[in-house]
Amino acid sequence: MKAFGNLIYSRETATGEAIAKVETHTPKIEAPEKVKSNEAFEVKVIVGPHPNTIEHHVKRVELYFYEEGRPFNPILLANIELTPMYTEPILKVTLRLKKSGILYALAYCNLHGLWETRKEVKVE
Ligand SMILES: [Fe+2]
Repeated sequence: MKAFGNLIYSRETATGEAIAKVETHTPKIEAPEKVKSNEAFEVKVIVGPHPNTIEHHVKRVELYFYEEGRPFNPILLANIELTPMYTEPILKVTLRLKKSGILYALAYCNLHGLWETRKEVKVE
């Protein structure tokens, strides 16, 4: 029986049929590589281009943060639930960080499962 974490696809772990889905399902995180402590900055998570029909769509996008030195991780920063045809799978959020860490984005497609990507952010 697989642990839940092993059910999440990524650019590195996709095999077989999933390889063809990497470009359209792996979220892309737009965020600065370095930020100043407690200074607001914007993060954008984009999925796709991906079909956006009732039969096939990105249903959910989530953003987590693994904070260096924190005893328990990750922190859920933001998530959106999407309605097909009317909404695009783009999550925008303004963050303030005090410690460096790694942003993790998850996207859920109703046909192709859960996809992950990550990006390191250094706090100076
Ligand atoms: Fe899909």
